[in-house]
Amino acid sequence: MSRTIKISGPDSLSGTLNIPGDKSISHRVAMLASLASGRSEIGGFATSADCLTTLECLRGLGVDVELDGPVLRIHGKGLRGYRPAEERVSLDAGNSGSTIRILSGLLAAQNFTSVIDGDESLRLRPMARIIEPLALMGGRIEAREGRYAPLTIYGRDLAPISYESRVASAQIKSCVLFAGLYAGGRTTFREPAPSRNHTELMLPVFGAEVETGEDGRFRIAAVKGCDQLNPVYYRVPGDISSAAFFIAAAALLPGSEIVIKNVGLNPTRSAFLEVLKDLGADISRENVFENHGELVGDLLVRGRRLGTAPEGMVLSGEIIPNIIDEIPVLAVVATQTEGRLEVRDAKELRVKESDRIRTVVDGLRALGGRVEEFEDGFSIGGPQRLKGGRVETAGDHRIAMAFSMAGLMAEGTTEIADADCARVSFPEFYDLLAAATSGI
Ligand code: S3P
Repeated sequence: MSRTIKISGPDSLSGTLNIPGDKSISHRVAMLASLASGRSEIGGFATSADCLTTLECLRGLGVDVELDGPVLRIHGKGLRGYRPAEERVSLDAGNSGSTIRILSGLLAAQNFTSVIDGDESLRLRPMARIIEPLALMGGRIEAREGRYAPLTIYGRDLAPISYESRVASAQIKSCVLFAGLYAGGRTTFREPAPSRNHTELMLPVFGAEVETGEDGRFRIAAVKGCDQLNPVYYRVPGDISSAAFFIAAAALLPGSEIVIKNVGLNPTRSAFLEVLKDLGADISRENVFENHGELVGDLLVRGRRLGTAPEGMVLSGEIIPNIIDEIPVLAVVATQTEGRLEVRDAKELRVKESDRIRTVVDGLRALGGRVEEFEDGFSIGGPQRLKGGRVETAGDHRIAMAFSMAGLMAEGTTEIADADCARVSFPEFYDLLAAATSGI
């Protein structure tokens, strides 16, 4: 049974927080390590439910995986080394879009058949976006109604393609580039706006050849097919999308002061910090360094009153993929800042772990907030007084965590239903929240 958590506000945040490993990077590094020729060791691996799901899938493919706290050791099988126990392997991606979409790129190139499924939420999420490019590479995938999990993937020899995606999505890009490792030539992915680039940065760490660039309004990433990947020693930085809940709340709750240690600051993931700074937030970066191509550093955040310029702020276009996972908590921020914040071009939110435009709008209204809903976003004028209430999370981890922060801002007691869904990306969330506040 998942708990209902009660949070009393108003409260502030203080202390030094060590945020668990980045979820996006953890999925990718585990998958690539499983294909390397030899043993990789990965520190700071995210032990969230989603990333454990990826490890279970790799075990199902015959890979020897050892997890010791956040240290992951994977005995890579080589690019052609997956050996499932059955002719037709059944894999469970749980709630994880990254697992099903990115792993499908690898499964499409194997010499066996895989069936990959997920939970109720994952079964509602669009899969045609990966089926289409994989089919163009020569892959054969059957899906429920042609576009939903479960996917039956008949492994085949793949050919390289040059693919133009309608959606800026790092999951689609990673699926195609991972499949491209098996295609004898150069596989190119074009996207209409820059999505997170962890895959492009990580493939060369394993010895694969990658090129990136721009072509008119498209961002390009290309990979060359290869025969072998090298094992790695890799250190995963803290997850900026997990840190975002604490950063957002600390930035606008006067009296707050937190330090976030060792967090990923990749520019394709950190526009959220710039948005907060544009709202007047006091956030500084310290000890910044580069590791495996990824920027990493500490953040110092101090609370103060925030507000937009008199004409308000509109977040739309190219910035949206960069802040996509932070938009729920930005909505909460918008209720507390002076002026109007509008989010547009964010229709992708409707096909995340929940319909995040709906769940955000419903959650804010449950706390007495006022918000205007659009098909592709919302508009929120602030500051507003939030009052404690009961928030339904629809089993969506980022909704549970964003509204826990709203609970710190609201007067009275806020109840977060099905709060344990936070474990999907951040199992330590409520413990860290309790330690950083006067108690939840
Ligand atoms: C992710 C990409 C994003 C993001 C998700 C993780 C990834 O999804 O929302 O949480 O690891 O590549 P899309 O690529 O579908 O936008």
